Amino acid sequence: MARQKGGLEGVVALDSSICEVDGVKGRLFYRGIEIDELAANSTYPETAYLLWYGQLPTQDQLDGLMAQFYSQRELPPEILRMIVEFMPSWDSMESLRTTVSAISGYDPGGLEHNPRDDQKRAISLTARMPTIIAAYHRARQKLPPVPPSSGLATAANFLYMLSGERPSARRARILDVCLIVHADHELNASTFAARVAASTLADIYAAVSAGIATLDGPLHGGANEQVMAMLEEVGTPDRAEEYVMDLLRRGKKVPGFGHRVYKTADPRATIIRPFAAELARESGQTRLFDTAKRIEEVVMREKGLNANLDFVSAQVYHGLGIPTDLMTPVFAMSRSAGWTAHILEQYSSNRLIRPRAKYVGPKQLHYVPVEQRKEKAA
Ligand code: COA
Repeated sequence: MARQKGGLEGVVALDSSICEVDGVKGRLFYRGIEIDELAANSTYPETAYLLWYGQLPTQDQLDGLMAQFYSQRELPPEILRMIVEFMPSWDSMESLRTTVSAISGYDPGGLEHNPRDDQKRAISLTARMPTIIAAYHRARQKLPPVPPSSGLATAANFLYMLSGERPSARRARILDVCLIVHADHELNASTFAARVAASTLADIYAAVSAGIATLDGPLHGGANEQVMAMLEEVGTPDRAEEYVMDLLRRGKKVPGFGHRVYKTADPRATIIRPFAAELARESGQTRLFDTAKRIEEVVMREKGLNANLDFVSAQVYHGLGIPTDLMTPVFAMSRSAGWTAHILEQYSSNRLIRPRAKYVGPKQLHYVPVEQRKEKAA
């Protein structure tokens, strides 16, 4: 069949009051607040609260949320054992997706829908995803898991659980801002998948698993890993032009460029771009950063395309010491707040999402008994 047309481009599938993207002006708002303001002033837990409840928390409400995060971060012992015993050789997204799905078996509420329990599940899933990713990473190095530290907020705690060392306040803040800008993005493919699952009244774990599965592909969240692989393959700025020109000649996409909605610079990439430069300078290793800059120049010259969030986040995560194959799981752990906010919104005003397809196949055929069928020439 010919390449699918449309891809639902420009189609408004539902009403939502969570996130607004202005692709023409390159602006993004969570619950009406512009992303630049949140990145400058907020924290990931506070932004998650905003996405879930529709307004910024008071100090008491924020303290309450942090207390829930701290108490929910640990994994059930059986789940931790499953990660340590079975998953070290698994792919990182396979491990995250399977573990999130398996956690549903340990939900004390028996998965029955009600807004109060579903909200608690949203918080506990968001609290636990960093623990899952860090435990998996430690297990594959044959290292024991580092238990979460209750004094540390999401970003600092994640870096701590990965390495066993407390990160500097600056590095924790850089990751915190990355988590804020990845936390939601309207009806991107994975959020749409999560909402479609939720619209059947499947449980929240199933819907988040659908989101994780959909994020994985290289056209969506998997792009950050592809970007890193490309930067390492190109290696030096002087090889960038030849590499990009070769990709374009062969009709291939350059990872980390283009966007379905933004027709101008991706505001999220603009926000975290200075961190990539800062971390490269700090490490004294500017080779990959300079290579990335050169790739951007060539793609802009040849295709007029801007780098997207994944192109820049790959560089920032690399600078923070996050291994390449954990970059998409880190995207998933921040998007957990957005997915669950959308799932809760879907439950609260649900109608089954069930579009139509236009049939373009053959018609008026008849059943042929098996002994009379002929193999079609390939
Ligand atoms: N490299 C080279 N050309 C690209 C490109 C890229 N990364 N992204 C888009 N284009 C070109 C297409 O070739 C096409 O050009 P043409 O009209 O001359 O054929 C045009 O831009 C439109 O591309 P299209 O594939 O129709 O856009 P889309 O809206 O379907 O796809 C993406 C959007 C994000 C899937 C696409 O840009 C892409 O594959 N990017 C790379 C993967 C990536 O970074 N994903 C993360 C997104 S946040």
